[in-house]
Amino acid sequence: MKRYISGVILGIACFVLGAAVTRYYDIHRLITPQPVQTAKSPAETGAPSGEGVADVTAIDFTNQPLWAYGFDRPPLPGEKASPQNPPSRNLRANQDPIEQTRPMHLNGSKAQYSLVDVRDGQNVIDWFPEDHPPMPKVIQHGPAALGEKTRGCASCHLPNGHGRPENAGPAGLPKSYIMRQLQDFRSGRRHSADPRKPNTNTMIELAKALSDEELNAAADYFSSIRWTRWIRVVETDLVPKTRIQGNLFLPLEKEKTEPIAGRIIELPENEELAETYRSPRSGFIAYVPLGSIKKGMDLVTTGGAKIVGNQFIQGKTTPCITCHGPDLMGVADVPPIAGRSPSYMVRQLFDIQQGTRPTQPPQLMKFIVANLTKEDMVAIAAYVSSRKPVYTTGTPTQTTRAALQ
Ligand code: HEC
Ligand code: HEC
Repeated sequence: MKRYISGVILGIACFVLGAAVTRYYDIHRLITPQPVQTAKSPAETGAPSGEGVADVTAIDFTNQPLWAYGFDRPPLPGEKASPQNPPSRNLRANQDPIEQTRPMHLNGSKAQYSLVDVRDGQNVIDWFPEDHPPMPKVIQHGPAALGEKTRGCASCHLPNGHGRPENAGPAGLPKSYIMRQLQDFRSGRRHSADPRKPNTNTMIELAKALSDEELNAAADYFSSIRWTRWIRVVETDLVPKTRIQGNLFLPLEKEKTEPIAGRIIELPENEELAETYRSPRSGFIAYVPLGSIKKGMDLVTTGGAKIVGNQFIQGKTTPCITCHGPDLMGVADVPPIAGRSPSYMVRQLFDIQQGTRPTQPPQLMKFIVANLTKEDMVAIAAYVSSRKPVYTTGTPTQTTRAALQ
């Protein structure tokens, strides 16, 4: 009975704290002027470095969750990404033209595309147009200002915005949140803690090239698509041996023979569908360490706070549900996180901790992640990813609007 009452008290304490923080955040957000659409780069504004501008020199690489970035060793001093080649339909020297241009079919789709079409990032293939609203130009063909070097947003994030572990899944995020991220990428306020991650740099180049109309259209588009579950979280002590290609883990074998060793290993459910066809209906499987989901649930729902005897012992963080909502589907423009990629999530938590992703004032997330270890982040991401995305009303945008009223 006593334990039951303690549980109730703890529940009430969390709820009150939650309501208070949410209210504070809401009020703050409402009185904070919304960022202007044409954010200037730090060089243009002459903003001093350190004032919200990401700093690369102070990153603690010894604690980096390498797998979350798609690397198997820490960066060497000064090592950084070479720019990605713009997408091209040209055949490489060793490629067979017949094989490369032969039409391929995918179950359930009326479309047919060749390997050349699949890699043409300036005219992104669309196996299932019925799964999403019509793509605006920028989503399919990319920001016009980049000319030959452009690429459609859907080439990485897929036409349904579900993305992949090595990039991000912008589908179903609030429009205002998406706009803020694009403006942060643009103005140098968001970049990867790992200087070797090439696609984040490409993301930044694209964000810089967006016109205001394109930025608005892209944010409208991605926010109007529901995030549906496409990552299966499985606890295990063994994973298949893997190789890394383009910062994505791919299996080398079917059998599981390698210790998971505290990592999260996220693999396509079907490598051929994900890689050769880039099917936006073939999802991912995330292997997580045994016991991590339960440990994560504790941190996410209580922040690790405990009642021992009559004593309330402070947790190491504020419960995530306080701001991201009891179902982790977001509140106002605090983004939904339920059922999303755990590798992406751990990468963001580490980036935020290391200061390469300064979040909006009042720096909410930085304070939240300050005391989290790599193990905590793994457990939290395992639990959050295992949660089903639930929509109570309408499209995500409508839900957001309703929450604001
Ligand atoms: C080359 C691949 C690539 C292309 C093309 C691309 N992105 Fe991204 N995008 C990324 C990566 C990588 C990230 C995550 C960055 C990280 O984790 O470091 C990202 C993140 C994002 C996010 C943040 C998601 C979140 O949850 O915070 C948004 C929004 C986004 N992209 C929108 C766009 C739009 C709009 C376009 C088209 C103009 C675009 N992206 C084109 C690679 C890409
Ligand atoms: C005090 C409020 C608050 C709490 C508590 C909180 N968050 Fe957040 N979180 C935010 C806000 C606000 C953002 C958006 C930041 C931005 O605009 O860049 C965010 C962003 C994120 C993102 C990035 C989402 C994306 O798509 O890139 C992740 C992941 C995240 N939070 C996870 C968590 C986890 C896990 C916890 C619990 C350990 C947590 N948050 C607790 C307010 C909070």
